[in-house]
Amino acid sequence: MSHMTGRRTIADMQEAIRRMKREQDVCLLAHSYEAREIVEVADYAGDSFQLSVMAAKAPQQTLLLCGVRFMAETAKLLSPDKTVYLTSPTAGCPMAEQFSPEAVRRYKQEHPDVPVVAYVNTTAALKTVCDVCVTSSSAVKIVRALPQKRILFIPDGNLGHYVQQMVPDKVIDLFPGGCPIHGAVTPADVDKARSAHPGVPLLVHPECPPAVVALADFVGSTSAIMEYAKKSDAREFLIGTEISIAEHLQYDCPEKRFYPLTVRLICPDMKATTLADVYALLSGEGDRAAAQITMDAETMRLARRCIDEMIRLG
Ligand code: 13P
Ligand code: SF4
Repeated sequence: MSHMTGRRTIADMQEAIRRMKREQDVCLLAHSYEAREIVEVADYAGDSFQLSVMAAKAPQQTLLLCGVRFMAETAKLLSPDKTVYLTSPTAGCPMAEQFSPEAVRRYKQEHPDVPVVAYVNTTAALKTVCDVCVTSSSAVKIVRALPQKRILFIPDGNLGHYVQQMVPDKVIDLFPGGCPIHGAVTPADVDKARSAHPGVPLLVHPECPPAVVALADFVGSTSAIMEYAKKSDAREFLIGTEISIAEHLQYDCPEKRFYPLTVRLICPDMKATTLADVYALLSGEGDRAAAQITMDAETMRLARRCIDEMIRLG
């Protein structure tokens, strides 16, 4: 951060960001796990699926994504002619890097008729060897719609387990991977939160372990959790996903109360982006070359098939 941005107030920086976006024809897309001051200047904030839909629809020539790398890659796959930047170029989802394309190729050699369903939290390179992508909000619907009885679901074993429960007529093979943040939540965390807030409904993301999901009152994607909490008649909620969701809900519904299931639910990669990074990129102080998303034509072609299938079936 430069001295100049360091002396600006948050409101000054936000106003300058809004102006620069207009002047430079930039659409700012922020995942809902991003900090409040970033979500406030976004043209659109939402879950992974909503961001990919908005990336495809946005009329602007440049997309600036605040989130993690696979989200910016997905935006680029959907809008190959646009310039796409990931505001914090080192922000990656550790789960997206857990399997190599080689591991999937080996599985496919042994099971040539089994489609590979990839959670969108995967690298573009891994998507090139998969058949269809899903997000947490579309996984159940898409797996149900596939004609094959057996599938491989990667990389999130917890989400795969949840989909298996919701679609019991399928046989779902899983590789042992998952989100280090959601995957570390335990039933003991639920007990502790429920002792502190008795009778309060628990809303969780399906990346949480099955033992935690089994205790929840509602299971859904980031946006589904927010929508449920906003519409519900309940006045208080325990939020079992990244801590920003409880914070945004508190701003959106000041008359209700939102408690994080545990304060350990913080994704360092999602929190790597600061408002000053957004400012720096737009003002030209940041390293645009490092932030720009580029992929070779073959990766784009093969990875895009999975994303197109996701949009078609989702
Ligand atoms: P959503 O699909 O709910 O946006 O989740 C993305 C993610 O990274 C969850 O940890
Ligand atoms: Fe990846 Fe988990 Fe962070 Fe989501 S919360 S971006 S799945 S590490």
